[in-house]
Amino acid sequence: MSEFIQPNLKVLIDRAQIQERIQQLGNQITTDYHGKSLALVSVLKGASLFTSDLMRCVDLPLTVDFIAVSSYGAAAKSSGEVRILKDLDTSLKGRDVLVVEDIVDTGLTLNYLLDNFRRRDAASVQVAALLDKPERRLAHVDVAYTGFTIPNEFVVGYGLDYAERYRNLPYIAVLQLEES
Ligand code: PRP
Repeated sequence: MSEFIQPNLKVLIDRAQIQERIQQLGNQITTDYHGKSLALVSVLKGASLFTSDLMRCVDLPLTVDFIAVSSYGAAAKSSGEVRILKDLDTSLKGRDVLVVEDIVDTGLTLNYLLDNFRRRDAASVQVAALLDKPERRLAHVDVAYTGFTIPNEFVVGYGLDYAERYRNLPYIAVLQLEES
Protein backbone atom coordinates (compact mmCIF):
# COMPACT_ATOMS: atom_id res chain seq x y z
CA MET A 1 0.00 0.00 0.00
CA SER A 2 1.26 3.49 -0.84
CA GLU A 3 2.30 5.72 2.05
CA PHE A 4 1.45 8.73 -0.11
CA ILE A 5 -2.12 7.77 -1.00
CA GLN A 6 -4.25 6.76 1.95
CA PRO A 7 -7.92 7.17 2.81
CA ASN A 8 -7.17 9.05 6.06
CA LEU A 9 -5.04 11.67 4.27
CA LYS A 10 -6.94 14.52 2.61
CA VAL A 11 -4.72 16.70 0.44
CA LEU A 12 -4.89 20.33 1.58
CA ILE A 13 -2.01 21.83 -0.45
CA ASP A 14 -0.55 19.80 -3.26
CA ARG A 15 3.06 19.50 -4.34
CA ALA A 16 2.79 21.99 -7.23
CA GLN A 17 1.09 24.61 -5.07
CA ILE A 18 3.83 24.29 -2.44
CA GLN A 19 6.63 24.64 -4.96
CA GLU A 20 4.99 27.58 -6.75
CA ARG A 21 4.49 29.45 -3.49
CA ILE A 22 8.04 28.76 -2.31
CA GLN A 23 9.39 30.19 -5.57
CA GLN A 24 7.37 33.36 -4.94
CA LEU A 25 8.69 33.61 -1.38
CA GLY A 26 12.22 32.99 -2.61
CA ASN A 27 11.90 35.77 -5.18
CA GLN A 28 10.63 38.18 -2.53
CA ILE A 29 13.42 37.24 -0.10
CA THR A 30 16.00 37.63 -2.89
CA THR A 31 14.77 41.18 -3.47
CA ASP A 32 14.44 42.10 0.22
CA TYR A 33 17.83 40.76 1.35
CA HIS A 34 19.95 42.06 -1.51
CA GLY A 35 23.17 43.48 -0.03
CA LYS A 36 22.46 42.07 3.43
CA SER A 37 24.17 39.33 5.42
CA LEU A 38 21.49 36.65 5.18
CA ALA A 39 21.59 33.82 7.72
CA LEU A 40 18.85 31.21 7.41
CA VAL A 41 18.06 29.47 10.68
CA SER A 42 16.00 26.33 10.26
CA VAL A 43 14.04 24.87 13.15
CA LEU A 44 14.31 21.08 13.15
CA LYS A 45 12.77 18.80 12.30
CA GLY A 46 9.61 20.05 10.63
CA ALA A 47 11.20 22.89 8.67
CA SER A 48 13.84 20.71 7.02
CA LEU A 49 11.99 20.19 3.73
CA PHE A 50 10.81 23.80 3.49
CA THR A 51 14.33 25.03 4.22
CA SER A 52 15.94 22.92 1.53
CA ASP A 53 13.43 24.00 -1.12
CA LEU A 54 13.35 27.67 -0.05
CA MET A 55 17.12 28.15 0.00
CA ARG A 56 17.32 26.94 -3.60
CA CYS A 57 14.95 29.78 -4.54
CA VAL A 58 17.00 32.52 -2.86
CA ASP A 59 19.55 33.81 -5.36
CA LEU A 60 21.91 35.43 -2.86
CA PRO A 61 24.99 34.55 -0.82
CA LEU A 62 23.68 33.06 2.42
CA THR A 63 24.45 30.68 5.25
CA VAL A 64 22.16 28.04 6.74
CA ASP A 65 22.24 26.68 10.26
CA PHE A 66 19.92 24.43 12.25
CA ILE A 67 18.49 24.50 15.75
CA ALA A 68 16.49 21.78 17.49
CA VAL A 69 14.12 22.68 20.28
CA SER A 70 11.64 20.88 22.44
CA SER A 71 8.99 22.06 24.84
CA TYR A 72 9.28 20.73 28.37
CA GLY A 73 5.80 19.21 28.17
CA ALA A 74 2.22 20.34 27.92
CA ALA A 75 2.33 22.62 30.97
CA ALA A 76 5.63 24.20 30.04
CA LYS A 77 4.50 24.61 26.44
CA SER A 78 1.69 26.90 27.51
CA SER A 79 4.24 28.96 29.45
CA GLY A 80 6.28 29.29 26.27
CA GLU A 81 9.34 27.68 27.76
CA VAL A 82 11.35 25.65 25.30
CA ARG A 83 14.58 23.70 25.64
CA ILE A 84 17.35 23.92 23.08
CA LEU A 85 18.34 20.36 22.15
CA LYS A 86 20.85 21.35 19.48
CA ASP A 87 22.10 24.91 19.31
CA LEU A 88 23.39 26.76 16.26
CA ASP A 89 26.97 26.12 15.18
CA THR A 90 27.55 29.71 14.07
CA SER A 91 27.31 33.19 15.56
CA LEU A 92 24.40 35.46 14.59
CA LYS A 93 26.22 38.67 15.53
CA GLY A 94 25.61 41.30 12.87
CA ARG A 95 23.68 38.87 10.67
CA ASP A 96 20.29 39.38 9.04
CA VAL A 97 18.56 36.31 10.41
CA LEU A 98 15.61 34.69 8.69
CA VAL A 99 14.09 31.97 10.87
CA VAL A 100 12.56 29.23 8.72
CA GLU A 101 9.63 27.35 10.25
CA ASP A 102 7.16 24.85 8.86
CA ILE A 103 4.21 26.08 10.94
CA VAL A 104 3.24 28.80 13.37
CA ASP A 105 0.63 27.35 15.66
CA THR A 106 0.42 28.86 19.17
CA GLY A 107 3.45 31.01 18.31
CA LEU A 108 5.16 30.09 21.58
CA THR A 109 8.16 28.37 19.99
CA LEU A 110 8.89 31.30 17.70
CA ASN A 111 8.23 33.84 20.40
CA TYR A 112 10.96 32.22 22.48
CA LEU A 113 13.36 31.78 19.57
CA LEU A 114 13.01 35.33 18.26
CA ASP A 115 13.80 36.74 21.68
CA ASN A 116 16.74 34.35 22.02
CA PHE A 117 18.19 35.28 18.61
CA ARG A 118 17.81 39.02 19.17
CA ARG A 119 19.92 38.65 22.33
CA ARG A 120 22.70 37.23 20.15
CA ASP A 121 23.15 40.67 18.56
CA ALA A 122 21.67 39.84 15.18
CA ALA A 123 21.29 42.88 12.91
CA SER A 124 17.71 41.83 12.17
CA VAL A 125 15.47 38.83 12.85
CA GLN A 126 12.51 37.91 10.64
CA VAL A 127 10.41 34.80 10.06
CA ALA A 128 9.48 32.73 7.02
CA ALA A 129 6.80 30.15 7.80
CA LEU A 130 5.27 27.82 5.25
CA LEU A 131 2.03 27.46 7.20
CA ASP A 132 0.19 29.78 9.55
CA LYS A 133 -2.66 28.57 11.76
CA PRO A 134 -3.84 31.87 13.29
CA GLU A 135 -6.81 30.40 15.16
CA ARG A 136 -4.44 28.67 17.58
CA ARG A 137 -2.28 31.69 18.40
CA LEU A 138 -1.41 32.37 22.04
CA ALA A 139 1.59 34.64 21.52
CA HIS A 140 1.86 37.39 18.93
CA VAL A 141 4.52 36.74 16.30
CA ASP A 142 5.28 38.91 13.28
CA VAL A 143 5.69 36.61 10.28
CA ALA A 144 7.29 38.47 7.38
CA TYR A 145 6.90 35.64 4.84
CA THR A 146 3.92 33.26 5.02
CA GLY A 147 3.29 30.46 2.54
CA PHE A 148 -0.30 29.54 3.34
CA THR A 149 -2.82 30.41 6.02
CA ILE A 150 -4.67 27.25 7.03
CA PRO A 151 -7.69 26.36 9.16
CA ASN A 152 -7.41 24.77 12.60
CA GLU A 153 -7.01 21.17 11.45
CA PHE A 154 -4.31 18.61 12.16
CA VAL A 155 -1.95 18.67 9.20
CA VAL A 156 0.91 16.39 8.25
CA GLY A 157 3.34 16.04 5.38
CA TYR A 158 6.14 18.06 3.84
CA GLY A 159 8.09 17.92 7.11
CA LEU A 160 5.16 17.85 9.52
CA ASP A 161 4.60 14.64 11.45
CA TYR A 162 2.17 12.64 13.48
CA ALA A 163 4.23 10.56 15.96
CA GLU A 164 7.24 11.08 13.63
CA ARG A 165 5.38 9.62 10.61
CA TYR A 166 4.34 11.35 7.37
CA ARG A 167 7.20 13.88 7.20
CA ASN A 168 8.07 12.48 3.75
CA LEU A 169 4.74 13.25 2.09
CA PRO A 170 5.40 15.67 -0.80
CA TYR A 171 2.15 17.51 0.00
CA ILE A 172 0.32 18.91 3.05
CA ALA A 173 -2.63 16.81 4.16
CA VAL A 174 -5.29 16.90 6.83
CA LEU A 175 -4.88 13.72 8.86
CA GLN A 176 -8.18 12.18 9.85
CA LEU A 177 -7.47 10.22 13.01
CA GLU A 178 -9.59 7.14 13.61
CA GLU A 179 -12.24 7.72 16.22
CA SER A 180 -11.82 5.60 19.30
C1 PRP B 1 6.34 22.30 15.54
C2 PRP B 1 6.75 23.28 14.47
C3 PRP B 1 7.12 24.49 15.25
C4 PRP B 1 6.22 24.42 16.46
C5 PRP B 1 5.08 25.33 16.24
O1 PRP B 1 7.46 21.64 15.99
O2 PRP B 1 7.81 22.81 13.70
O3 PRP B 1 8.48 24.46 15.65
O4 PRP B 1 5.76 23.08 16.57
O5 PRP B 1 4.21 25.27 17.32
P1 PRP B 1 3.87 26.52 18.22
O6 PRP B 1 3.62 27.69 17.34
O7 PRP B 1 2.62 26.06 18.94
O8 PRP B 1 4.99 26.74 19.19
P2 PRP B 1 7.40 20.28 16.85
O9 PRP B 1 7.53 20.62 18.31
O10 PRP B 1 6.18 19.48 16.48
O11 PRP B 1 8.75 19.54 16.42
P3 PRP B 1 9.19 18.96 14.98
O12 PRP B 1 9.39 20.14 14.07
O13 PRP B 1 10.48 18.26 15.27
O14 PRP B 1 8.10 18.05 14.49
